[in-house]
Amino acid sequence: MTAELFAERLLGALTGAAELHTIELGRRLGLYPALRGQWLTAAQLAKTAGVDERYAREWLEQQAAAAILTHEDGSFTLPAHVAEVLLDETGPNYLGAAAEFGLGLGLLTPAVIEAFRTGAGISYADYGVHFRHGIAGFNRPMFEHSLAAEWLPALPGVALDRPGAKVLDLGCGVGHSSIALARAYPSLTVRGVDLDEASIAEARRNAAAAGVADRVTFVQGDAASLVAGPYDLVTIFEALHDMAEPVAVLAAARSVLAPGGSVFVGDERVADTFEAPAGEIERLQYAFSVLHCLPATRAEGGESAHGTILRAPTLLAWAREAGFTAPAVLDIPNDFWRFYHLKG
Ligand SMILES: C[S@@+](CC[C@H](N)C(=O)[O-])C[C@H]1O[C@@H](n2cnc3c(N)ncnc32)[C@H](O)[C@@H]1O
Repeated sequence: MTAELFAERLLGALTGAAELHTIELGRRLGLYPALRGQWLTAAQLAKTAGVDERYAREWLEQQAAAAILTHEDGSFTLPAHVAEVLLDETGPNYLGAAAEFGLGLGLLTPAVIEAFRTGAGISYADYGVHFRHGIAGFNRPMFEHSLAAEWLPALPGVALDRPGAKVLDLGCGVGHSSIALARAYPSLTVRGVDLDEASIAEARRNAAAAGVADRVTFVQGDAASLVAGPYDLVTIFEALHDMAEPVAVLAAARSVLAPGGSVFVGDERVADTFEAPAGEIERLQYAFSVLHCLPATRAEGGESAHGTILRAPTLLAWAREAGFTAPAVLDIPNDFWRFYHLKG
């Protein structure tokens, strides 16, 4: 790689970062919904969305220049394929939350700089609402479309359709996985656990809005100090690498399993060993690790904080240390996550 090529790469990244923030403007201000299915001038958009006309014109032109909006004779519209990605929160191609994720990362970067100097952690709560919603929005489509339809059928011996079946969802965040499970199995009860108070409050609201609050309950606490059980299945989605005591969490999960029960983990799909340069998804995960997962886990205390890059051999070793005799990697295709079935 030459200096020119690297400079070009950096410029591309800056363009991408700046455009991501302009996308967040469109989301926050309701500009995209206003432009869905209709052509608007700057004056019409300003009126419809309640924003300043001059700003609206600059944003419209910038969005068209960035090939996000379509433009014709001073009018602009949101193409259907872009609308699907930016606005359809439960659709399989939704990625609008990436813009909020970017905002959350940027806002916390000064705190991360300070953390590098002091070695202190930054609590998940301090990462705030944009980060929480960024993660939740990113993962929700997978829970809605794949969890019950593709992932669970790949788990040998797990039958959640029997009356009285129970699931424990550790590190449940704002509850989309717990809710998706309850929706898929009408007699299932789910208990979600998360350390973050704001996530739990939001999870309760989400369950009520989804009409499953009678079967889906949430409790704030550390996944390592569980007491109640038994559960047919314990799930941990993109959260094990964030926990300060992952082996203790897996041992606690094992201790609350009903006879024949098992643990289902989804965590990052990264290479088995450190490779540099890495693939694009591992690069993204590493950046998240530096900016978020490592500082957030350090804030939980404990000796070792792992970070986002949880490789399969490490996870399987943790599972064995926690007492599982038959931890296995599952053959479930997914760009971001690898799946594990812990039994025995
Ligand atoms: C990346 S988020 C994933 C949230 C959710 N599972 C999802 O997929 O959208 C990680 C979650 O783990 C939670 N967490 C971290 N450490 C925890 C612990 N020790 N006990 C319980 N939850 C924890 C965080 O509060 C956060 O909600």
